Amino acid sequence: MAMGLHLLQVQFILAILLIFLAKSISSSNTGVTFPIAKPNCDDHCANVTIPFPFGTKEGCYFNSSFLVTCNDTCYNPPKAFLRKSNIEITNISLDGQLRILQFIGKACYARNRTRMVYDNPWMRLSRGLTVSNTANKFTVIGCDTNAIVYGNRLNKNEYRTGCRSWCNTKDDLEDDEGSCSGLGCCQVPIPKEVRTVNVTLWSPQNHTNVWDFNNCSYAFLVEQSAFRFSPGNFSSLRDVKTLPILVDWSIGDGTCEEARKNSSSYACKSTNSKCEKHNNGYGYRCSCQNGYQGNPYFINGCQEIDECKDPSLNDCEKDRCVNTQGDFKCVCPKGYQGDGKKDGRGCIRGQSLVLKLVAGNAIGVIVLLLAACCIYVELNRRKFVRMKHKFFLQNGGLLLQEQLIRRDKSPDTAKIFSSEELKKATNNFHDSVIIGQGGFGTVYKGILANNKIVAIKKSKEVDLNQIEQFINEVIVLSQINHKNVVRLLGCCLETQVPLLVYEFINNGTLFEHINNKTKARVLSWDKRLTVAAEAAGVLAYLHSAASPPIIHRDIKSANILLDTNFTAKVSDFGASRLVPLDQTQLPTMVQGTFGYLDPEYMQTNQLTEKSDVYSFGVVLVELLTGKKALSYDRPEEERNLASYFLSTLKQGSLFKVLDDNIVCEGNNEELIAVSMLAKMCLYVRGEDRPSMKEVAMELERLRLLRKHYLVQTQPNSEEMESLLSEPMNDFRNGEGSSIGIGYDSMRNHIPSPISGGR
Ligand SMILES: *[C@@H]1O[C@H](CO)[C@@H](O)[C@H](O)[C@H]1NC(C)=O
Ligand SMILES: *[C@@H]1O[C@H](CO)[C@@H](O)[C@H](O)[C@H]1NC(C)=O
Ligand SMILES: *[C@@H]1O[C@H](CO)[C@@H](O)[C@H](O)[C@H]1NC(C)=O
Ligand SMILES: *[C@@H]1O[C@H](CO)[C@@H](O)[C@H](O)[C@H]1NC(C)=O
Ligand SMILES: *[C@@H]1O[C@H](CO)[C@@H](O)[C@H](O)[C@H]1NC(C)=O
Ligand SMILES: *[C@@H]1O[C@H](CO)[C@@H](O)[C@H](O)[C@H]1NC(C)=O
Ligand SMILES: *[C@@H]1O[C@H](CO)[C@@H](O)[C@H](O)[C@H]1NC(C)=O
Ligand SMILES: *[C@@H]1O[C@H](CO)[C@@H](O)[C@H](O)[C@H]1NC(C)=O
Ligand SMILES: *[C@@H]1O[C@H](CO)[C@@H](O)[C@H](O)[C@H]1NC(C)=O
Ligand SMILES: *[C@@H]1O[C@H](CO)[C@@H](O)[C@H](O)[C@H]1NC(C)=O
Repeated sequence: MAMGLHLLQVQFILAILLIFLAKSISSSNTGVTFPIAKPNCDDHCANVTIPFPFGTKEGCYFNSSFLVTCNDTCYNPPKAFLRKSNIEITNISLDGQLRILQFIGKACYARNRTRMVYDNPWMRLSRGLTVSNTANKFTVIGCDTNAIVYGNRLNKNEYRTGCRSWCNTKDDLEDDEGSCSGLGCCQVPIPKEVRTVNVTLWSPQNHTNVWDFNNCSYAFLVEQSAFRFSPGNFSSLRDVKTLPILVDWSIGDGTCEEARKNSSSYACKSTNSKCEKHNNGYGYRCSCQNGYQGNPYFINGCQEIDECKDPSLNDCEKDRCVNTQGDFKCVCPKGYQGDGKKDGRGCIRGQSLVLKLVAGNAIGVIVLLLAACCIYVELNRRKFVRMKHKFFLQNGGLLLQEQLIRRDKSPDTAKIFSSEELKKATNNFHDSVIIGQGGFGTVYKGILANNKIVAIKKSKEVDLNQIEQFINEVIVLSQINHKNVVRLLGCCLETQVPLLVYEFINNGTLFEHINNKTKARVLSWDKRLTVAAEAAGVLAYLHSAASPPIIHRDIKSANILLDTNFTAKVSDFGASRLVPLDQTQLPTMVQGTFGYLDPEYMQTNQLTEKSDVYSFGVVLVELLTGKKALSYDRPEEERNLASYFLSTLKQGSLFKVLDDNIVCEGNNEELIAVSMLAKMCLYVRGEDRPSMKEVAMELERLRLLRKHYLVQTQPNSEEMESLLSEPMNDFRNGEGSSIGIGYDSMRNHIPSPISGGR
C-alpha cells in the first residue's frame, strides 16, 4: 500500500512538473533585463535606482563626480544624496537627468503685518550639472508677491529673472484654477546653463489687503509637470519644505570628438552606443542607437530591444512573437497553423499529442490518488477517534473546560478547536509551515477554514509540568484583552501534545529585528522607542490594571512580536503568574531566561512585579545597543549585557556601546534619557526600581516629545551650513567648490526690491 502510494506520488509530481515546464518555456523569453550597476555594486537606495556611471562606493562610479551617498543611518527609508552634499536625489535617469529636491522660498505675515517666516533658498551645483531650462519653471505664488531668481551660469555671467503675482480678492482666483497666469500665481522660464540658484521674495504691501485669504508668499524653482497651481496651494504649501527640480548631467567638458580621442576616458563604452553633445552645458552624454536599449556606459551595455516584450512594439498574438536582430517575427508553435498576427489569421490549434498525453495521465493519477487517500483516511479514522478522547483527558481538557466554564463567557473567550481543523490549517503540520522553533516547542503557521491566518504552538513533550504551564497560559491569556498582547484564539486538546492557537503576527520577533543586520538598520530610533513604550504599557497594565495582577515572568526580546506596522505584541505567557490580590510577593521556583533574570529573585525566590521591570530593563538595553542579552562570543566582561551596559555608563562611555543605527542628529538627549531609565530598571534591589507604570509613562513622554519635535523642525540655515562645511575637494570644480542647498533666513532684514523680472 505505502509503496503504491509512493510511486503514485512520484508520477503525480512528474506530471505537474511537465505542465509547469511547458508553461515556463513559452513565457521565458520575455523579461530581458540589462545591467544597471557594476557587479557587487548597490543599484538601489530605497526606491531610487542608481545606474552606472553613478555609484555608491569606490569602484562603482565612473569618477567621484558621480558618487551617490545612500544615507540609511538617519533616514528610513534611506535617502540618496548627491556626492557628499545635502542635495537629495529622487530619480536618476540614463537620459542625462537627475531629479533632486530643492527648498521652497516662503514669507508669511501675522495679522499685525509682521513678517513671521522668511526663507530664501539657494542651491549650488558643481560642474557637470546644470538646472534643466526646459523642464523647470520659476514659480511665484501669492496675492501680494514679487520674487526673483538669480545666480551664476556656467560662463560665470549672472542671470536674474522673476515675476509679480497679484490678486485683489478671493474671487480673482476662481478663474485661475490650473493656470498660472499672474492671478495668485506667475511663472517664468529660466535661461540655459544655470549653475547656482538664489531665490528672494517680498511683499510690497505686507499682505495688508489680502491677509484674510492669503497670509504667505512662496517662490520656487520646480519641475513644471510636478506642480499645478490651485488656490488651495496658498495653504497647502505652508507645510511643504521641498519640491522636485530636474538637473541635467553630463560627462567631461569636451565635445564628443575630443572625448573619443582618449579611449581610456571615453565613457560611451558599449557597442551600438552613440555620443551626443550636451545642449545645456559642457561635455557629452551617451545613448544607445535606435533599436537598442540598455546602459551605454558599459561594454555591451546596449542590447537589442526585444520587441516581443512590449505588446505596443509588435503586432503578434500573445506568446507568438520571436525576437530577431533588430526586428521580430510572428511564429506559430508546432502543431499550430497561421501567421500569428493579432489582426491576421492568428494561430489555429492543431492536434498536440504531447499535451493530450500529459493531461490524460494527470487526470488518471488524480483519480487514483483520491481513491487511495479515501481508503487511508477511513482506516485511520477509527484509530483517531479512540486516541483523541484519551489525549483530551491526558491534556487536562476536563480541568480546562471546567476553568473556562467557571469564568464569564464573552465572545472573545478562547475557543476549543478540533484536531481536524488544525491539521487542515497546517497541511498536517508540514515542515514548510514552521515559523518558529525553540525550547518550548514548535510554532506553525496555519490558515483556518475561514481564511484567518493563525499561529499554532505545539509544545515539545508532555510532562505534567508542561501541561500545567499550558493550561496556565490559556487561563492567563483569556483574562487579557489588550492591543499589544498576542491574542489567544483557542486551543486544541485532542492531540498527543496540546496545541495553542494565536492570532498570527507576521513580522517576526523583536529579537530578530535587533540582531539581523539588515533588519536592525530599518529599526529606527523612532520605532524602537514606540516598541519600548508599547511593551512597557502592556506590563504596566498587567501589573496594575489587570485583575488579578499578572506577572509575565519571561520578558525578553524574543517574546515581543512585531506586526507589519511595528506594533509590539507581547507573547508567551506560559510562565506567567496570577497574583492573588492580597499578596505582593509569591514564593516560587525560579523561572525565566538567563540574561534577563532578576538577580534578587534568583537569590530569594520571591517573585514580585519588579522582576518584570528588571527583564524589561534588559530589553531596553538590547534596543539601545543592538546586542544580545547573553553571548558567549563576547569577552568575559561583556558577556552579560546588563552588567556590561552598567559599567560603560559608569565609565561615561555610553555612546561607544549604542547601536550605530540609532545614533543620529538631534536624539542624544533621548538616548541618554532611555539609558538612564534602563539603568534604574536594572537596580539590584527591586525596591529601588521604578514601577512598570512609571517606566511606561516616561517612555510615552519621550515618544510624544519626539513627535512634537519632528513636526516642529524646519530646515535651519545654521544646520545646513555645518553640513556644507565639509570640504568637497574630491572633484575638480574650479571656483565655488562646494555644492549644496540651503536657506538664507533673513528674518530681520527686508531686501530692497531689486529691479529686473518682467
Ligand atoms: C519612493 O519611496 C517614497 C517613500 O517611500 C515614496 O513616497 C515614493 O512615492 C516612491 N516613489 C516611487 C516612484 O515609487
Ligand atoms: C546621514 O545624514 C545625517 C543627517 O543629515 C548626517 O548627520 C550623517 O552624517 C549622514 N550619514 C552618512 C553616512 O552620510
Ligand atoms: C525616473 O525617471 C524615469 C525617466 O524620466 C522614469 O521612467 C522613471 O519611472 C522614474 N522613476 C522613478 C522612481 O520616479
Ligand atoms: C496664516 O493663516 C493660517 C490659517 O489660515 C494660520 O494657521 C497661520 O498661522 C497664519 N500664519 C501666520 C504667520 O499668521
Ligand atoms: C505681531 O504678532 C505676532 C504674533 O501674532 C507677535 O509675535 C509680534 O510681536 C507682533 N508684532 C507687533 C509689532 O505687534
Ligand atoms: C546666493 O546665496 C548664497 C548663500 O547665501 C551666497 O553665498 C551667494 O553669494 C548668493 N549668490 C548670489 C549670486 O548672490
Ligand atoms: C511693510 O512692513 C515693513 C516693516 O515691517 C514697513 O517698513 C513697511 O512700511 C510696510 N509696508 C507697507 C506697505 O505697509
Ligand atoms: C497644489 O494644489 C493641488 C490642488 O489642491 C494639490 O493637489 C497639490 O498637491 C498642491 N501642491 C502642493 C505642492 O502643495
Ligand atoms: C571625471 O571624468 C570626467 C570625464 O573624463 C573628467 O572631465 C572629470 O574631470 C573627472 N573628474 C574627476 C574628479 O576625476
Ligand atoms: C586619457 O585619460 C586618462 C584617464 O583619464 C588619462 O590618465 C590620460 O592622461 C589621458 N590621455 C591623454 C592623451 O589625454
